[in-house]
Amino acid sequence: MKYYEKIKTTPIKKDAIILGIETSCDETAVAIVRAGREILADEIISSATEHAKYGGVVPEIASRSHTEAILTATENALKNSGLNKDDIDAIAVTEGAGLLGALLVGVSFAKSLAFAWNKPLVPVSHIRGHISASYLADKDLKPPFITILCSGGHTAICEVKDYYTLKVLGSTIDDAVGEAFDKVARVLSLPYPGGPNIERLAEKGQNNIKFPKMLANNYEGSEFDFSYSGLKTAVINYVHRAEQLGQQIVKEDVACSFQHSAIDVIVDKAEKALKLTGYKTLAVSGGVGANGYLRKALKDRFSGKIKLVIPEKRYCTDNGAMIASEGYLQYLNGNFADLTLNAKAVVPIK
Ligand code: KG4
Ligand code: ZN
Repeated sequence: MKYYEKIKTTPIKKDAIILGIETSCDETAVAIVRAGREILADEIISSATEHAKYGGVVPEIASRSHTEAILTATENALKNSGLNKDDIDAIAVTEGAGLLGALLVGVSFAKSLAFAWNKPLVPVSHIRGHISASYLADKDLKPPFITILCSGGHTAICEVKDYYTLKVLGSTIDDAVGEAFDKVARVLSLPYPGGPNIERLAEKGQNNIKFPKMLANNYEGSEFDFSYSGLKTAVINYVHRAEQLGQQIVKEDVACSFQHSAIDVIVDKAEKALKLTGYKTLAVSGGVGANGYLRKALKDRFSGKIKLVIPEKRYCTDNGAMIASEGYLQYLNGNFADLTLNAKAVVPIK
């Protein structure tokens, strides 16, 4: 019997142990998670320092680094979990969105592993993976809830209606919030990755420059949509204008004021989404969820009023555990791929 014909008939186990593989950007991440909630092993090998030399992720370097790291990450995950290959029930892998060459390394490796170990192969959306990190953070979390997805590639507010149904209330009409952090970091000559470096600088600054809060009001689309391109341009113009006039800028203040403008709209829109839906739970997902100012602003606004789920910083940024957690949900539904699975640079938020 062919691989997939056999796999299709695999009995589904409620307490399944899933090995999750993530290679969409610059983290080679492999984790092992039981029943979508319990992390048994979690390995991340990052190539960020390689990219820092060039000021941003270089796709070719990312792909090569994944190729070099993926076997070690998988072996270490298995060793640290204390399990062996027979204990693994399925292999989940990020199929998209992300850098195509980088994704291909994970997808090809996952296909080989699934075939060699004779396990189901479960394709996972990176976006859904970020959202599922909240199930790792709070073992009792159940839909429905609102999630604010804020990463380097996406910014959206979604209703998680049930484990499988997402409704996008609004999303960015141009840049993502993480992208804005990274681009502003560049103009302030901060090294890659920009987000954490802006945050560190902002801690020493004042919110005393009036940058726009894009789409805060008076916009004809969804009141939950975002826009970051204008804010980014406003910061770039501010810095260039000062340079032309030979004026000194206070980088700390620029970082702090930008951070307020970028983040405050997210917190405001999250509150509106809670009001609209009547949901009593708010979860955060994506790399910008690691931002200390956002985390504090959410706690200040919502603590004691609703249930707030903020994953540990490690599980906001890219990791394998979120892919294993989302992979478990897809596994329960029998959403298996055959060995023709391919990587996708873009996937819709759904
Ligand atoms: O979710 P993620 O790891 O990858 C994507 O799926 O995009 O998000 C990466 C993004 C980058 O833009 C990075 O600058 C941003 O998250 N980020 C932060 C922080 N940590 C990571 N942004 C602001 N503050 C942080 N502490
Ligand atoms: Zn991500």
